[in-house]
Amino acid sequence: MCGIFGCTSLKEGVSKLIYSSLKRLEYRGYDSVGLATICNGHIFLKKDQGKVEEVERRLSLSALPGRCGIGHTRWATHGAPSKENAHPLTDCEGKVAVAHNGIIENYLELRSKLGDSGHKLRSRTDSEIIAHLIEELLNKGLTLEEAVRQATLTLRGSYAFAVISPLCEDKIVCVRMESPLVIGLSRDYTCLSSDIPALPPDVESIIVMNDGELAVLTPHSIVIRDLESNQQLPLRIVAKESVTCLADRGGFTHYMIKEIFEQPQAALNVINAPRYYIVKLAEELVKSDRVYLIGCGTSYHACLFGSYVLRSIADIDAQPVIASEFSESHVKLGKDVAILAISQSGETADVLQVLRSYVNKDVKLLALTNVMGSSITRLVSSYVGLYAGPEIGVAATKTFIAELLMLTRISIEVARIKGVNVDLISGVESILRSSPKLIERSLTLNEPLAKSLSVYLSLKNSAFFLARGVNIVTALEGALKLKEISYIHAEGYPAGESKHGPIALVEEGFPCIFVCPHDETYYKILGNVMEMKARGAFVISCVEEGDKEVRETSDRIFVLPKIETKLLTPILHVVPLQLLAYYTAIARGYDPDKPRNLAKSVTVP
Ligand code: F6R
Repeated sequence: MCGIFGCTSLKEGVSKLIYSSLKRLEYRGYDSVGLATICNGHIFLKKDQGKVEEVERRLSLSALPGRCGIGHTRWATHGAPSKENAHPLTDCEGKVAVAHNGIIENYLELRSKLGDSGHKLRSRTDSEIIAHLIEELLNKGLTLEEAVRQATLTLRGSYAFAVISPLCEDKIVCVRMESPLVIGLSRDYTCLSSDIPALPPDVESIIVMNDGELAVLTPHSIVIRDLESNQQLPLRIVAKESVTCLADRGGFTHYMIKEIFEQPQAALNVINAPRYYIVKLAEELVKSDRVYLIGCGTSYHACLFGSYVLRSIADIDAQPVIASEFSESHVKLGKDVAILAISQSGETADVLQVLRSYVNKDVKLLALTNVMGSSITRLVSSYVGLYAGPEIGVAATKTFIAELLMLTRISIEVARIKGVNVDLISGVESILRSSPKLIERSLTLNEPLAKSLSVYLSLKNSAFFLARGVNIVTALEGALKLKEISYIHAEGYPAGESKHGPIALVEEGFPCIFVCPHDETYYKILGNVMEMKARGAFVISCVEEGDKEVRETSDRIFVLPKIETKLLTPILHVVPLQLLAYYTAIARGYDPDKPRNLAKSVTVP
């Protein structure tokens, strides 16, 4: 993970711009932060453990002098969060400073070679070796660009990094190898960033770097080369507006709650998304005998939902697989198989790794992502955007709903092409059309109860989220939301399975959250509610308007609009669970936008 940002400018005060960009990048990692600039032949460097604003208050990162610099927000992989392990990292003689994102797989071997030749490594990171490798090559008389290029050729792994040096005061050299990196162009400066949303507002156009490329930036020039051949490559400049829009909190206390309340708009955006790309992707699916849906975390939950809608609406053999568990020993690949990857960021390493291993093979690669121009879009033959707008809160909310709705739209198009389930389609379409209003109502009906229940839940150590059928997706997602931002242990479980073990944990006052729309599983789940009540559980249930039985047996109920096609109930029933997680994190005094140990884009496998 980690975020890197660099800028070389015609004007003084570049550290201010780097600092504000690091704040926008903080969702990629926030255990430590650092900034280095070049001025009067020296590297000026400040870094420490802590969040960007905390470290700024202690060290005034934004006051470093100079017109060229790099910055870093860290999510620790190698070496604990500490000042020594924070980036930028330097070599022995202060010839270069390096900010790195990703993993260098052969760092132990390189570290020991560098140690043998007298280098003093001060951190426990895999990243520091990059600075020393470049130093070694500079000492042999190579230019900065060539030293970076040759050092990179000795590295194995997935990474992106940026290098500055007092030897070339206005130059940044950066490299991309399987970790995201974009270049931003403005009138007065050139910059680089791990993510498009972190680019400063006055960046007018961008270049998305490809894997295996090295770029040399000055305030008025960009040169991109192929790392292996050293050949100069043409610049692929695109307007920034074509790939992004800016995010702010818009008066809300946190991005997460703002994004939860943006869900009606996200739904509208999915409804209005151009049909052309959806049909194109649907046509690919129609040609496939089987589709594997791959994703991680919340996006994996969307895969699970996708397998229900693709099977039920489109008669497609769809199998969800957690991306990091995708292996040919448990999936059956063949000529007419497609892999549909789902990823909000489009940069999740576990997902990209699967796709990369099937590029140029007999498997169709397709994707669903919220970030146009992300790595995933360049690996697949066809993809559809989610149009949810930037999601900054680490916990995915509006993009989850957008994923569910877009999967539903795709299923409808497949069914249309195949001419199947015609009656079902019209009902599904009418719910899709009213989904913005239905989600809006789910929010207003349930926010007060979520707030008041959060006080009770904040005092608990553990909770169950139970459901049957398609709403297992909702239970898993509700549990993930609660545990990741409030640090309460939460398990999402099939309700019918709970008596085969988990029920042993239930005692007086144990929170059990049930998802119970009036579908074909209703009376079975009612039985499960009774079982838990009989053992003293405190039962909170999500029910439809007009529900009687579950309402009577539950301690508290979230009420959701009643819809005819029960297959789509996760789109509504997840809403109170998102609110409950958010308010519980607040009640426990945590920042829901920046949960510990997590980051928005998980770019390490
Ligand atoms: C949970 C969450 C993560 C992500 C997961 C995949 O709220 O945000 O579990 O869903 O890291 O990320 P993407 O969708 O970017 O591939």
